[in-house]
Amino acid sequence: MQAAVSSPLVCNPPRVTIIGAGKVGSTLAQKVVEKNLADVVLLDVMQGMPQGLALDLVEAKGISQCDRQIKGTTDYADTVDSDVVVITAGLPRKPGMSRDQLMQTNAKIVVEAATSAIAYSPNAILIVVTNPLDVMTYLAWQATKLPRDRIMGMAGVLDSARFQAFIAMELGVSVMDVQTMVLGSHGDLMVPLARYSTVAGVPITELMDEATIERLVTRTRNGGAEIVELMQTGSAYFAPAASICLMVESILINQSRLLPVAAYLQGEYGLKDIFIGVPCSLGCGGIAKIWELNLTETELAALHTCAESLRENIESAIAILS
Ligand code: NAI
Ligand code: 2OP
Repeated sequence: MQAAVSSPLVCNPPRVTIIGAGKVGSTLAQKVVEKNLADVVLLDVMQGMPQGLALDLVEAKGISQCDRQIKGTTDYADTVDSDVVVITAGLPRKPGMSRDQLMQTNAKIVVEAATSAIAYSPNAILIVVTNPLDVMTYLAWQATKLPRDRIMGMAGVLDSARFQAFIAMELGVSVMDVQTMVLGSHGDLMVPLARYSTVAGVPITELMDEATIERLVTRTRNGGAEIVELMQTGSAYFAPAASICLMVESILINQSRLLPVAAYLQGEYGLKDIFIGVPCSLGCGGIAKIWELNLTETELAALHTCAESLRENIESAIAILS
């Protein structure tokens, strides 16, 4: 019996390019592939390193029961037509170093990476991760001129996850019942919102005294530095990669998750021409909506303090690049 012959079906699975195959980038690649979310292209400047990591991930596919394609490369041509591009290229912090001290080196790396990636994938959604995060996202936007719904920075999801973990540990409850919201910049000035953080719907202000909340807020603000001090070499990567993956997943499968991301503001919260962490819903077009929460005067002032500090850093970064 002869099988019916039809024209071959052409299916293009979604493609995620990760630029920077270091700790964060390679952990993200593993998560995206193991969740069967998309094919992954892992790009780095270190010849052989992304290829080796990709081969290692390919060899794990049978065990992890995933069938996505993974390619390691140093050539941007291999990233063509990506749906999502994530930039994790650059240096991480050393003990005692602030995120802003990374600016000089990382500014040039991020601008080059964003420009090259978008040249090959003009319709991609770009997620910047490299530190100092909010400034690097601004520079990537300036370099690519992407519309604001297609470019964002990852930090708020991570900072909120840390606040969530600390609340769960303090109260001895499941982290799955805790919801948190951290706005602002990714640094010491970030704005964890206790009023909008809950355990099974109960505001944490009903469950903990002010001093305890303040202690957890401070620990959240120092969350990255605490890990850098412990590790001595490199910085956190499991929680960062999980945070990026949540954003990528919401975009690729159009979940409309409401997540704090560094978005370009044009008047929201009284701020303009800046990337800063605010709640956004993420879907297949990128940022579907920026949500404006009712903030108290103190919370709004804290957000504006972040913005002022970011503006100074953006000016220094632009000066470095010119
Ligand atoms: P890592 O040092 O392990 O990896 C960085 C990789 O970037 C290296 O493999 C390096 O070869 C590569 N690279 C350098 N220049 C490049 C270029 N021009 N093109 C392509 N690749 C290049 O560092 P890790 O831990 O993966 O962190 C990466 C960045 O992400 C750091 O800036 C870190 O501070 C930041 N980060 C940001 C977080 C956030 O919440 N926004 C959370 C965690 C890390
Ligand atoms: C963190 O918060 C290093 O920004 C990174 O862990």
